[in-house]
Amino acid sequence: MEIVHTIKELKTKLQVQREKGKTIGLVPTMGALHAGHASLVKRSVNENDVTVVSVFVNPTQFNDKKDLEKYPRTLEADCELLERIGANIVFAPSVSEVYPEPDTRVFSYPPTDEVMEGRFRPGHFNGVCQIVSKLFMIVEPNKAYFGEKDFQQIAVIKAMVADQKYPLEICPCPIVRETDGLALSSRNTLLSEAERKIALNISKTLFESLEYAKTHTLTETKYWVINTINAIEGLEVQYYEIVDGKSLSSLNDWRDSDYIVGCITVFCGSIPVRLIDNIKYKESK
Ligand code: PAJ
Repeated sequence: MEIVHTIKELKTKLQVQREKGKTIGLVPTMGALHAGHASLVKRSVNENDVTVVSVFVNPTQFNDKKDLEKYPRTLEADCELLERIGANIVFAPSVSEVYPEPDTRVFSYPPTDEVMEGRFRPGHFNGVCQIVSKLFMIVEPNKAYFGEKDFQQIAVIKAMVADQKYPLEICPCPIVRETDGLALSSRNTLLSEAERKIALNISKTLFESLEYAKTHTLTETKYWVINTINAIEGLEVQYYEIVDGKSLSSLNDWRDSDYIVGCITVFCGSIPVRLIDNIKYKESK
C-alpha cells in the first residue's frame, strides 16, 4: 500500500494503472476509520483492481469551527487498518494541497441538500460537493463508495453526479452497527461510557418504530420516535423526518412511496455530541 500526499503523484500513479486497463474504486473518508469505513473499502477491493482511500478532514463542510478542531485525526492507525484490508493507495493531502485558493464553487440540488442536515448545517453539503467533486476529478474512479449511514449525503452526491455528468457509478453500502445496534461513527469516540449507553436508545427506538409503524400512521410514528427519544435524559432530537428515499421530500402517508426512510439527528450528552442514524420502513425494489 502506498501513501500519497500530493495530487500530482496520485494522478501519475493512477494514469499508469488506467493505461494497463485497471479499474479504480474510490472510498472518500475523513479518517478515524472504523468497521463502517472498512466495509466500504472491502467492497471496493472486491470490485476493482485498484482501491484509493482518501483521508482528509475537509474544512469546507464544517459549519462549526469547534467541530472541525475536535474531529479525531488518526492517520497512522488508519493506514494500518487500510493496509490490512487490502487498500492500494491512501491519499492524505494537506488542506493547502486541496484548496490552494478558496473554493468558490456553489452546488445546489434542492430539495436533497435543503432539508434535514441542509437545514441545520447550512453550507455543509456545498462543502461535501466541493471535496467530492475534486476527488472525482483527481481520481477519475470507475466506482465510488458511500455509506448509507449518511443517507442524505448519498442523495446529494447522486444529484451532483447527474448534474456534472461524472462517468462513474455511486455504490451505496449498508450501515454497519455495533452488535448492540449503535451505528458506528467516528464521533462515538467523543462519548463517555455513560453517554454511549444512552446513545444506544437512538437505534433501539428506530428499530422498535418498525413494529409501531405497522399499526400507526406515518405522522404518529414520527412523533412516537421523537417523544420516546426526548423522554430519555441526555438525548435531544434535532429532527426526525420520514422521507421518500429518492427525493428526500417529507411524506404524510405510508402509501405515498415504495421507498421510505426515517432520518434522525440527536444531541447526546452534556458537551453535546451530534449523532445521526436512519432506518428503512420500505425499500424500493
Ligand atoms: P466520513 O464521515 O469519514 O465517512 C466516510 C464514509 O464512510 C461515508 O460514505 C460514510 O457514510 C461511511 N460510513 C461512516 N460510518 C458508517 C457506518 N457505520 N456504516 C457504513 N458506512 C459508514 O462522510 C464523510 O466522511 C465525508 O462527508 C466525505 C464523503 C469523506 C467528504 O468529506
